[in-house]
Amino acid sequence: MHSSLPYFAISRRSFLKTTSAAAVFAASPFARAARSPASERITVGIIGWGMQGPNNTRGFLAQPDCQVVAACDLDPKKLAAAAGTINTHYGNTDCKAYHDYREMIARDDIDAIMIAIPDHWHAIVATEATRRKKDIYGEKPLAKTIAEQQAIVRAVEQSKIIWQTGSWQRSVANFHKAAEIVRNGLIGTVTHVEVGLPGGHHDFPGTLPAFDKRLAALGGKLPSPAEIVPGTPAWDLAVTAPPEGFDYDLWLGPSKMEPYIDVRVYQNWRWNSNTGGGQLLDWIGHHGDIAHWGLGFDLSGPSEVEAFGNFPPANAIWNTATKYTVECTYRKEVTGYANDVTMTIAGGSSAIPMGTKWIGSDGWVWVDRSGLDASNPEWLKGDTLPDNLRKVRLIESHQHQRNFLDSVKSRTPTITPVEVAHHSTIPGHLGLISMLVGRRLHWDVKKEQILNDPEASALLTRPYRAPWKLSA
Ligand SMILES: NC(=O)c1ccc[n+]([C@@H]2O[C@H](COP(=O)([O-])OP(=O)(O)OC[C@H]3O[C@@H](n4cnc5c(N)ncnc54)[C@H](O)[C@@H]3O)[C@@H](O)[C@H]2O)c1
Repeated sequence: MHSSLPYFAISRRSFLKTTSAAAVFAASPFARAARSPASERITVGIIGWGMQGPNNTRGFLAQPDCQVVAACDLDPKKLAAAAGTINTHYGNTDCKAYHDYREMIARDDIDAIMIAIPDHWHAIVATEATRRKKDIYGEKPLAKTIAEQQAIVRAVEQSKIIWQTGSWQRSVANFHKAAEIVRNGLIGTVTHVEVGLPGGHHDFPGTLPAFDKRLAALGGKLPSPAEIVPGTPAWDLAVTAPPEGFDYDLWLGPSKMEPYIDVRVYQNWRWNSNTGGGQLLDWIGHHGDIAHWGLGFDLSGPSEVEAFGNFPPANAIWNTATKYTVECTYRKEVTGYANDVTMTIAGGSSAIPMGTKWIGSDGWVWVDRSGLDASNPEWLKGDTLPDNLRKVRLIESHQHQRNFLDSVKSRTPTITPVEVAHHSTIPGHLGLISMLVGRRLHWDVKKEQILNDPEASALLTRPYRAPWKLSA
């Protein structure tokens, strides 16, 4: 908090106890007008300057009532780029750079933080930040395991901080409209939902060509990272020393120590189960989140989950499922819905296209980043449904970072609060566990426990490498 700039400092802290003053401020026409005085800006620290961190940060930089005052990335090159971009934007040198997130979070003059680091780090950083009473904009999926997600939910609830998840599709008109069509019963009662996600592995950072060049020494057909396992000449060429100045030990954090292989670090950490959850966990917080939104299952979940996947060898460089199908059953006794609802989550399926499709007794709706479609073309006209059809109105947000900042001021929930992110991703986590143990899981939605299956239950959590532990 700015000690010399008391207005917002004092009011934000008091917002934790009372919401009325905050609500007045958020509603004020001045809240969105020209740049707020420095003393009234929400101060933000950002953690992670990889693929998503810069996108989120640009969203914050565009807002007149916040100031990004600190940047953290354990990679010195990324950190320099982060601080450089932020300082250039403001035309000053005020944004301070941090290698260690703990130092940044310890600052009292930072109100909120943005976390865009790999999934294996989410829970540790988020729980530490709640302990420091920071409001948090945190990336999806909420965490790497269900147990870590539960710890984050508990920590957020106890500390009464504001949480926004990076499931930004909720702030996009097409997704909002699709969910409202379903929630307003226009397709009747939903019986089935299809959630189409990508399959395979994608070389996001484009590090594969250089990797292949290294392997070319082997001659013959080059193996892919999904085929390379320890004890082979390809593995020996794949393993290198980490780049100069890159703190690989810190990057691995709580995950198991493994040799450094460049194609499983930046962005491609998604394709190794030590750090990520493959396409399923990368996308469940988007299209799975939208599926729940339309159904009104934001705080509910499936009672049964059965999944099948094609996996590379477990010790391959990229070892996450390349193709998968997760079948979920939502029981009406649990959800309170009119009937049971089944949901198929498919990755890399030619039968189920990308996006979310709800199928009901009287029609269907499909939505994806590429468009919106429905059984009745009338519903597609205009940005929103006509007023007479909008008996249920879902919370509206047109910009995800803006929605977070508004909530920070008003102390009211964001469009994607922590419990929602937790429930949105549970079908993905359970799907992965079902694939790994090779059988159907029975899930107690209320108690959040897998029933009668100790082997599967053990996968709700994961061991941490010392000295890392959750702050909660
Ligand atoms: N909402 C979206 O649309 C969206 C899109 C992409 C990624 N994401 C999410 O964002 C997160 C980051 O993904 P990414 O693709 O940007 O990854 P990335 O590998 O491109 O970037 C992560 C950055 O975090 C840094 N980092 C890692 N551990 C750190 C730590 N402990 N402290 C400080 N810095 C650390 C790395 O050096 C790297 O620069 C993931 O959770 C991912 O699922 C969300």
